Amino acid sequence: MTPDLMEEGARRLAEHRARAGAGGSVMAGHQPYFGQGVALYLDEITVSFDGFRALNALTLTINVGELRCIIGPNGAGKTTMMDCITGKTRPDKGKVFFGSNIDLLRLTEPEIAQIGVGRKFQKPTVYEQLSVFENLELSLVADRGVRASLLSRLNGTQLDRLGELLTLIHLKDEAQRTAGLLSHGQKQWLEIGMLLAQDPKLLLLDEPVAGMTDEETERTAELFLTLEGQHSLVVVEHDMKFVDQLTQGRKKVTVLHEGSVLAEGLLSEVQANEKVVEVYLGR
Ligand SMILES: Nc1ncnc2c1ncn2[C@@H]1O[C@H](COP(=O)(O)OP(=O)(O)OP(=O)(O)O)[C@@H](O)[C@H]1O
Ligand SMILES: [Mg+2]
Repeated sequence: MTPDLMEEGARRLAEHRARAGAGGSVMAGHQPYFGQGVALYLDEITVSFDGFRALNALTLTINVGELRCIIGPNGAGKTTMMDCITGKTRPDKGKVFFGSNIDLLRLTEPEIAQIGVGRKFQKPTVYEQLSVFENLELSLVADRGVRASLLSRLNGTQLDRLGELLTLIHLKDEAQRTAGLLSHGQKQWLEIGMLLAQDPKLLLLDEPVAGMTDEETERTAELFLTLEGQHSLVVVEHDMKFVDQLTQGRKKVTVLHEGSVLAEGLLSEVQANEKVVEVYLGR
């Protein structure tokens, strides 16, 4: 293992351990409350870069168990919105709440991950030299160092969970394969599996099917539909066929433009919206 890999593994383990409550987490006794049905609430978030407003009083609510697709032209602020939720970027103004009680703007990036917000970046970041199984194993174990984790055995519950995850991400037959040899789509699924191993309540997925084949894209939509309900999902995508498959003609999508919500409604509704056609879909 390279030093980078060790460091990354140690970081993830520390996060997981803190979440599991072992070793005195800063979050101990401070858990998100979802009883009011709200998973995520952004209130008038504004972010400026050198005077340019990447987000402009953006207000958005995601319900518990909801799968919400966010679309919009390049530069609309979709990734910046995710950066604000995960603590990577601090807004100039506004509020970001997880559940109805956790003010995410008061937490650091690792604390936000610990409390149950998982983020998938566009580029897959799996441990290329390790097997699919070992990648998932590292995300599951809570109480040992990376080297010790790889040398020791998972308990029965963890093994069962690992098996479930392998089935869910369509990689059961590839469990012993070196992750570096997987296709781009399979690496993306593995990373989603690694996120799921940490049981996030909210999953943020930024262009998850970019670079996937049509078949991989369809399977990814099936996977997300399986996760809906148990997790809240925010999916940013430009692929309208994928968005159509996810929304199934009945879920609303949000259109971002110039840092705020331009339109919200069924995909068919926003596709027929003149303003949306003008700035995005008609191009
Ligand atoms: N760190 C930064 N410094 C300066 N400008 C930035 C920074 N991050 C983002 N921006 C600008 O903010 C705007 C919104 O960018 P963002 O990446 O959020 O758009 P996006 O909706 O994700 O676009 P895409 O669909 O291309 O991914 C863009 O004009 C971008 O150039
Ligand atoms: Mg982006």
